[in-house]
Amino acid sequence: MVETKDRRDFVLKLGIGAGITALGAQAVASLRSLVPNVSYDSPTTVKVGPPNDFPDGMKFLPDERLFVFRDGKTFHAISAVCTHLGCTVRAEALSQVQTQGVEGKSLRMTHRFLCPCHGSKYKGDGSNESGPAPSPLAWYHLSLASDDGQLVVDLAKPVGHDFRLTLA
Ligand code: FES
Repeated sequence: MVETKDRRDFVLKLGIGAGITALGAQAVASLRSLVPNVSYDSPTTVKVGPPNDFPDGMKFLPDERLFVFRDGKTFHAISAVCTHLGCTVRAEALSQVQTQGVEGKSLRMTHRFLCPCHGSKYKGDGSNESGPAPSPLAWYHLSLASDDGQLVVDLAKPVGHDFRLTLA
């Protein structure tokens, strides 16, 4: 009689355990179904065209919100995203080209940057000069694609203001 009751208790506990396990597995499967199997994040490295498509001076890339500067065989890229609240800054050509040492390297500056939203101003190297912008515009890493020689910008790789890509 005692043995039958023990067996009944055991089977009951086994049933409850199996039920909890099944519910847990179902809950995990339901939550997993909410997460897509593919990533729709935009890639952080973007091919922006062959170097010869970039004139000496500056070219604005609206899709990447990026200014690419060329001085002969040397390139650098400055973000157009204002560091205040993220508006796209405008480039304004300087009346005279300025050459200045920036982080130990000479930089030929043809433009400065103005934010239309709240009036922040940035120098030609992207450093914040006035207005609410709390920090300089980002510079991004440039390289050449090994397969087709296009310029590649890595929008997840900020670099110092002494970064240059110089072509051979
Ligand atoms: S977003 Fe540029 S100054 Fe506010």
